[in-house]
Amino acid sequence: MEDKQKTTDQIMLDKMRESKIETMYDRYKAQQPQCGYGSLALCCRHCNYGPCNIDPFGPGPKRGICGADANTFAARHFLRMSAAGTACHSDHGRAVAHLLVATARGEAPGYRIKDVEKLKMIAECFDIKTKDREINEIAEEVGEMALMEFGKPYGTLLFLKRAPAARQKIWEKLGIASRAIDREVTESMHRTGMGGDQDYRNLTKQAMRVSLADGWGGSMIATELQDILFGTPKPVQGRANLGVLKKDYVNIVVHGHEPQLAEAIVMASTGPDIEKAVAAVGAKGIVIAGLCCTANELLVRHGIPMAGHMTMQEGAMATGVVEVMVVDIQCVMQALAETAKHFHTKLVTTLSKAKISGAEHVEFEDENALESAKKIILMAIGNYKNRDKKKVFIPDASEPNLIAGFSHETIKYMLGGRFRASYRPLNDNIINGRIRGVVGIAGCTSPKAGECTQSYVDLAKELIANNILVVATGCAAGQCASGGLMLPELKDQCGAGLKEVCEAVGIPPVLHSGACVDNSRILIACSEMAKEGGLGNDISDLPVAGACLEWMSEKAIAIGQFLVASGIYTVFGMNSPVAGAPDLQNLLTKELEEQVGARWDFQQDIKKIGKMLMDHIEMKREALGINV
Ligand code: SF4
Ligand code: FE2
Repeated sequence: MEDKQKTTDQIMLDKMRESKIETMYDRYKAQQPQCGYGSLALCCRHCNYGPCNIDPFGPGPKRGICGADANTFAARHFLRMSAAGTACHSDHGRAVAHLLVATARGEAPGYRIKDVEKLKMIAECFDIKTKDREINEIAEEVGEMALMEFGKPYGTLLFLKRAPAARQKIWEKLGIASRAIDREVTESMHRTGMGGDQDYRNLTKQAMRVSLADGWGGSMIATELQDILFGTPKPVQGRANLGVLKKDYVNIVVHGHEPQLAEAIVMASTGPDIEKAVAAVGAKGIVIAGLCCTANELLVRHGIPMAGHMTMQEGAMATGVVEVMVVDIQCVMQALAETAKHFHTKLVTTLSKAKISGAEHVEFEDENALESAKKIILMAIGNYKNRDKKKVFIPDASEPNLIAGFSHETIKYMLGGRFRASYRPLNDNIINGRIRGVVGIAGCTSPKAGECTQSYVDLAKELIANNILVVATGCAAGQCASGGLMLPELKDQCGAGLKEVCEAVGIPPVLHSGACVDNSRILIACSEMAKEGGLGNDISDLPVAGACLEWMSEKAIAIGQFLVASGIYTVFGMNSPVAGAPDLQNLLTKELEEQVGARWDFQQDIKKIGKMLMDHIEMKREALGINV
């Protein structure tokens, strides 16, 4: 009875403790107290004079051996985090662009162009001719143009021009319009080396330029080209939670970020030979379930069930029913190799750029994706007989009927209708006050925030009760999905205005928009809202905000920085990454407002964040003169 109120991750954590299996929570505890210098960004080891520390309180050193001060320490860290996050999302985008080219050339068996309309739209963005041309010819050129965005020697990123004109002017004036993606990442590494850029304001400007190369570059390339290859998300039913794993089935969990692996696994999981192999081991079938952003990608496009978010990866394995956990890249913990030793589960890595000691490796390339996927599936089927039935434990919970798949095209279509898909109705509903504003919640889940928290669920509930539409991505979306927040019936928990809109349109008040790279969808949605009129003429005029409560990855910093640089007020929970540098903290949380019309806020008390977001939205409404 008591277990019914617990989340499935909490149930699994209790079970793992009982079985004496180490978890991230044990390792988190073992790390306490965490390094104070590191926590405040006051440790530098950018050269071998160091490591140098700065004493923030006492009479200790105020400068490193080279003379760098606290602001330089923290700004260099901040820029390197932004660059690393940009590199992650963008290298993912590059892999998708390569796949698009390979598919167009017929060199990637199994893959095909699924969304021709989007292909043509992106071709137009790139000034590529589409009239009287073969689809594959256009796709090849789009893929090649996208690849050029990583290393072109001159000019700025092509997708920047999708932003409102007023926003583009701000970027130009500040000199932060991103050039080639790789150039911004490389220059960031260069500038943060010993003896390079040592002005925290200048370093922060580059943090904006490199992050914009993520949001309007690498992430946007990943999102748009994935839509071309795998389909643009449309509303789809799905299920989420560890309960999606099934006792009598061969369970394959796909974990990581790049959907091309998961898509191939899905493609290779059917057919008479697979059915025969499954029957031969006495299983009822195959369950494919996602974890982390791979889960988001599969859920929003195909309704394939999601086992859980980032901090549930060890728990998913500890159900004892996972024959294979197949991973690609990002947010995959090395600890999984140890957890796997307690079970029959095989941990399989797939990319030469991301191997894990102790895991099996099946190399995965565009040309052999289907073959490799089949090998992995047969490996899983073969491993079914090794399952130890005594260790099987699946928490009895899953959320049926959740609706995911809210790309910005879908939101526009659902709100605007078949004949005039536009953001006009959303803007009108914001102007008339039925919807007060929109908040995007994005990002990670973290043991630092507490044990198996439900912070995104709590925040989303508070926002919708106050007539704020919520758009979720990444593990924030994963938690909301597992927490049962993406059900249309949830409209009853909304304020009256939002309820009316959700009822009329038939959407849940918390919209699942996809993975972390799909924060680029939020940028496009905001741009279109600004261009639609009635709510100012720039993204920074809109009553919208962003939040990441349990940030963990460097990718989250890049996302936060590109949201702010795009004009979206953004609040991060837990701790500020620049807390030991008061001037830099002031720049991020106050001065940036004058430069880009938006700023960061950092708030330890997660409960206060809802109010901060709502106050911001009301302040923007007031400025627009729509405070009805
Ligand atoms: Fe110390 Fe400066 Fe070297 Fe950093 S770059 S380790 S502060 S000497
Ligand atoms: Fe992610």
